[in-house]
Amino acid sequence: MNQTALHRKLASKDLKDLQKGSLQKLFDLRVATNLPLIRELFYSLYSDPKHNTYFKELQELLPVLFETRSDELKNRDLQLLKKGNWYQSEKMVGMQLYVDLFNKNLKGIEEKIPYFKELGITFLHLMPITTRPKGENDGGYAVNSYTAVDRRFGSKKDLLSLTSKLRENGIYLMLDFVVNHTSDEYPWAKKALKGSPKYQGYYYMFPDRTVPDAFEASLPEVFPATSPGNFTYRKEIDRWVMTVFNTYQWDLNYSNPKVFLEMLSNLVALVNNGVDVVRFDALAFLWKKIGTNSQNLPEAHLLITLFRMCLQTITPGVIFLAEAIVAPKDIIKYFGEGNRKGNECEVAYNASLMALLWNSIATKKTLLLTKTLQNSPGKPEETTWINYVRCHDDIGLGLEDQYISEIGWDPWLHRSFLLDYYCQKLDWSPAIGYTFMYNPSTGDGRITGSCASLLGLEKAMRNSQEEAIEIAIKKILMLHGIILSFGGIPLIYAGDELGTLNDYSYLNNDHKKEDSRWVNRPAHDWGAVAKLKEDDRPASIIFQGLTHMISLRKKTKLFSDTNNVVLHDPRNPHLLLYERTGKKKNGVCILANFDEHPQIIDASILVSLGYIKEGVLHDLLTNRKRSLHSGLVEVQPYDILWLTKP
Ligand code: GLC
Repeated sequence: MNQTALHRKLASKDLKDLQKGSLQKLFDLRVATNLPLIRELFYSLYSDPKHNTYFKELQELLPVLFETRSDELKNRDLQLLKKGNWYQSEKMVGMQLYVDLFNKNLKGIEEKIPYFKELGITFLHLMPITTRPKGENDGGYAVNSYTAVDRRFGSKKDLLSLTSKLRENGIYLMLDFVVNHTSDEYPWAKKALKGSPKYQGYYYMFPDRTVPDAFEASLPEVFPATSPGNFTYRKEIDRWVMTVFNTYQWDLNYSNPKVFLEMLSNLVALVNNGVDVVRFDALAFLWKKIGTNSQNLPEAHLLITLFRMCLQTITPGVIFLAEAIVAPKDIIKYFGEGNRKGNECEVAYNASLMALLWNSIATKKTLLLTKTLQNSPGKPEETTWINYVRCHDDIGLGLEDQYISEIGWDPWLHRSFLLDYYCQKLDWSPAIGYTFMYNPSTGDGRITGSCASLLGLEKAMRNSQEEAIEIAIKKILMLHGIILSFGGIPLIYAGDELGTLNDYSYLNNDHKKEDSRWVNRPAHDWGAVAKLKEDDRPASIIFQGLTHMISLRKKTKLFSDTNNVVLHDPRNPHLLLYERTGKKKNGVCILANFDEHPQIIDASILVSLGYIKEGVLHDLLTNRKRSLHSGLVEVQPYDILWLTKP
């Protein structure tokens, strides 16, 4: 049992009678249950006796922070506890968006609640909305404040009004907590730049290159093309500051417990706006150590769990999403291992599935996808994935070299092929994408481009090729059909429901033009939305197809994540076959064809799984029964079937 399950039990008696007294009583119980863990985590990180006073400070801080939470949200916390693992529900369908690009500001988002409802969205990820530097700011991931809403998006009042409306409409909200770094304009950074030793101690700063060089020996580069190296020289203070991401994003020094305490207060202030899910940004980077790559370190896991256990004490309804775009074997660790199992993050991005889907599109084969998934460790039962086709970032080739070799491909050549396929180096490829942060010395590179453009819609429309347009639409729907049926929360990038193409306007903006991720962050096409009733346009077909799949997902209990995804071998390298199994031998079986030609599967495979009876199979998506005329089932190019048992 993880801590959440324990708190659910503790709270169950009081849930009917949520008076102030019981809210306080439950808080005291949570402190009593979590404090031993909090103490252990704290002292594992901060064992130096000089840090003893900080633990006392933390103990005193917890009730102070609890008092800052409104009674309404305290009650919501308990309601969410009562709902069990609500984030695993089949009803969860997410959308990610930039507020200004979607509909101007926070009020504009509120106005569009009916749009979310029409599509079936029940979970929103709003990209950063707090103040940021005027120039380059990494889309708000360089934070000037963790709480002050940037004027371009509206006011704090607008935010509170929006979060309350979202709650009324049954839509959960996720906001980012940029936990690894602040901007160089953040108040602490400003004081550090004025020479304050206290605030210089909040960051990693060095008077010469000795320590930075020692770090650099084993630190990779996140943005090698635009922000090479991991340290930036600031002449105002004659110091080298650690800046793992961009030069204006200063890494926080969590070996200083004061930083942890202050960031905990920032976190609580953020969630007090009515946040249900905290996206823990770039959390793999939270702890730095010379001689390592300073990613996924054991101390980072302890620190995240410490944040988690403290926040759970204060706001038990709020959960954590791990933004760890790292190797599959490392991602899984963010759910917590050993005695931290299920106590670290409840949700994590399924970056492996995402990368493997793009790999399967380019190769038209599912071998690597199936092999990797089959060899991935299982996740704790209280946790779930975010399944996504793509997000606001680039697509990294997070594939395991060992598996690439085992299926007979050369890992280096294979990665080069993928970059060429998506980034316009092969004439025959339908994709229009761009290389991101290509590093000629290592051959590493990532890919940018909107879902529709990477899947061929842009090229097909440019050349008015009807058949190619149809294929691109089928690919878009097939990939979404997979993320909607795989175990976890599907997260759609706003605009992909309309097949929005690449947006090149960023090239005219001096603060964006060096960062090609903006090509896949188009403004929402409300013109296309206005014409959704015109049935034969790509946007309408995609929108209707997605709305249909979403509504079926929400009606199908088997799609709730109970660790019930079972992969099967379709004995055809172009097909993907998996099942969502139920306790009563019921199930849904998903069959997708990644090839441009029709492919066949031996009917006996589906018979043995129970999806063909008396020569008939039933597809939930088309609600059609199909009678077989031979021992083979044919799947059309880029078709996806959701089979149910007759
Ligand atoms: C995360 C965000 C990315 C940002 C980075 C630095 O990876 O997704 O957009 O650039 O953090 O904050």
